[in-house]
Amino acid sequence: MTISKPKTCPKNPNKKIIAIDGPAGTGKSTVSELLAQNLGYLYLDTGAMYRALTLAAINARVNFLDSSAITRVGRRTKIDLKQSNNGSLNVFLNNRLVNDEIRSPKISSLVSFVAKIAEVRKIMVKLQRQIGKRQNCVVEGRDIGTVVFPDALVKFYLDASLDVRADRRFKELKLKGIRVALSEIKELIRRRDRSDVTRRVGPLKKALDAIRVDTSNLNIAQVVNRLLREVEKKSHG
Ligand code: DC
Repeated sequence: MTISKPKTCPKNPNKKIIAIDGPAGTGKSTVSELLAQNLGYLYLDTGAMYRALTLAAINARVNFLDSSAITRVGRRTKIDLKQSNNGSLNVFLNNRLVNDEIRSPKISSLVSFVAKIAEVRKIMVKLQRQIGKRQNCVVEGRDIGTVVFPDALVKFYLDASLDVRADRRFKELKLKGIRVALSEIKELIRRRDRSDVTRRVGPLKKALDAIRVDTSNLNIAQVVNRLLREVEKKSHG
């Protein structure tokens, strides 16, 4: 797998990394993207990388229980993360824009099989660190503060109740015209949480020094402001 970085990012010797971890449906992606725009940092959505590889594995018709076959797909797949002019992230799989495709329920239900493969995680972590070496980044995922960037400037762990998270995902999919029962989404999130938390390599875990933010009763702007305040505090000592 290769990841090409936005060519517009300046080479900066003092890279700052903001790590944002937490389970699905906490508003992580939206918050991370807005935070990155506010700070002028690159937004690095590591979940999108695992999702894109899942799509590649589906296209290659591999058996999802065959870790070696998925790893082989990972080695030969080209994934590009490019920042668009408005700061949002575009994900390309072998030069094809796959932003919407990688958010489908099918990908969501299969991505855990890919994310728990040690070899795949090794490839991903290496790439994420390479990107983080070149520019200031807001990096979003599950193992960012614990494994990928343990020395991040600020670490956040976003959380919310399962009901709130399922409801948010339900509304998100409905807006996109995807009809799935709320109960099904809840079960899917529950299963994905279990797989994320219990996998052997890079499990979802709050870093000891991460700031926990419960987003259940906060809107996106409130969460972004809270995070910005913390980053400012850290940046100015
Ligand atoms: O954040 P997301 O829902 O797009 O993530 C998709 C999947 O990828 C999710 O099951 C967890 C996994 N993932 C991971 O294992 N490690 C990361 N750093 C990011 C995502």
